[in-house]
Amino acid sequence: MQTILVTGGAGYIGSHTCVELLEKNYEVIVIDNLINSSKESLNRVKKITGKSITFYEKDILDKDALDKIFNDHKIDAVIHFAGLKAVGESTQIPLTYYHNNLTGTLILLQAMQQASVFNLVFSSSATVYGEVNQAPYTEDMPLSATNPYGLTKVMIEQFLQDTYESHNYWNISILRYFNPVGAHKSGLIGEDPNGIPNNLMPYVSQVAVGKLKQLKVFGGDYPTIDGTGVRDYIHVTDLALGHIKALEKIASQTQTSIEAYNLGTGNGSSVLEVVNAFKEASSKDIPYDIVDRRPGDLAIAYANAGKAKAQLGWEANQTLKDMCQDTWNWQTNNPNGYR
Ligand code: NAD
Ligand code: UFG
Repeated sequence: MQTILVTGGAGYIGSHTCVELLEKNYEVIVIDNLINSSKESLNRVKKITGKSITFYEKDILDKDALDKIFNDHKIDAVIHFAGLKAVGESTQIPLTYYHNNLTGTLILLQAMQQASVFNLVFSSSATVYGEVNQAPYTEDMPLSATNPYGLTKVMIEQFLQDTYESHNYWNISILRYFNPVGAHKSGLIGEDPNGIPNNLMPYVSQVAVGKLKQLKVFGGDYPTIDGTGVRDYIHVTDLALGHIKALEKIASQTQTSIEAYNLGTGNGSSVLEVVNAFKEASSKDIPYDIVDRRPGDLAIAYANAGKAKAQLGWEANQTLKDMCQDTWNWQTNNPNGYR
């Protein structure tokens, strides 16, 4: 069976992907410095799957640590989640974001090249479609970004393109996630934001459980169905399965390639549609107030998910209701996250 190195595997999407990898009998090695996660997520992954993970509490900026991992294990492919991801924070501490995300990725690519490991799945984001393109987004649209976090994704995509062109033994899948939400059906793993959540679903969920008083809906005057922002929410387990499909394609194809795929449902939901779906899933009231738009937010963002379906045989199956129910199940079972 193949051995996969998962950078950032203790995080939200990483831990869900580890579950799906183990369920499919991959050997899993995680490197994570736990800057935005806890080791407990990996204990829970073991609990769900009954299988073990080799865990290195190390930084991807630490080239010696990476070299040692590549020396000590025969790694077939890398899934690279490790990175800092808060848009707002990235405008406050851009140098930290550029160093961690860009330098970290460069060091990882160097270590991979040295170890002759050329199979890579990279976590990109729908944020690379920037402000100029109109939804539904297709993978061939021009890329841009308006904040340091988004720019790290645009730049890393360019690094990967250049790396592939320099040596086409690289085999690279770039996955552009839309809005990952939800939690594993078991309620054992889920999103565990530090402090007050920036993102809609964890915020709504903390209002429903009574930890936060009321939701601020950012903008009620967008040109959308009810005036609130529209996004393509995707269940984190569907997203995790997209990584398995990307690995399978890399392993099965006779010619290497670099391809980008949107991982979204292809459907948009407004903030108020999410609030209503969550109300139903939780049977709780979710008080909200419509306030000013959040700077930098788009009115509408959703995927054309056709390429992933055609080339990876992947599509999202879970509904907004599933996403809300599973978030609620995780939230009520773990009111303080992993703490
Ligand atoms: P997360 O913060 O839960 O997971 C990232 C993990 O990487 C964390 O466990 C963190 O401790 C680790 N990490 C960060 N820097 C590291 C370093 N230098 N060395 C080792 N480990 C390090 O975030 P997530 O939501 O699981 O996101 C995973 C990836 O997907 C990120 O690259 C993120 O940018 C991307 N992404 C996320 C979203 C989203 O909304 N969650 C959307 C699009 C793309
Ligand atoms: N929203 C609110 N109130 C909140 C939080 C969010 O009304 O308290 C609204 C936003 O205005 C937006 C929608 O809910 O209309 C979704 O917002 P999120 O913050 O959950 O998600 P974004 O689409 O803004 O951002 C996400 C990821 C980013 C990524 C971006 C594009 O969090 O990392 O998608 O891929 F860059």
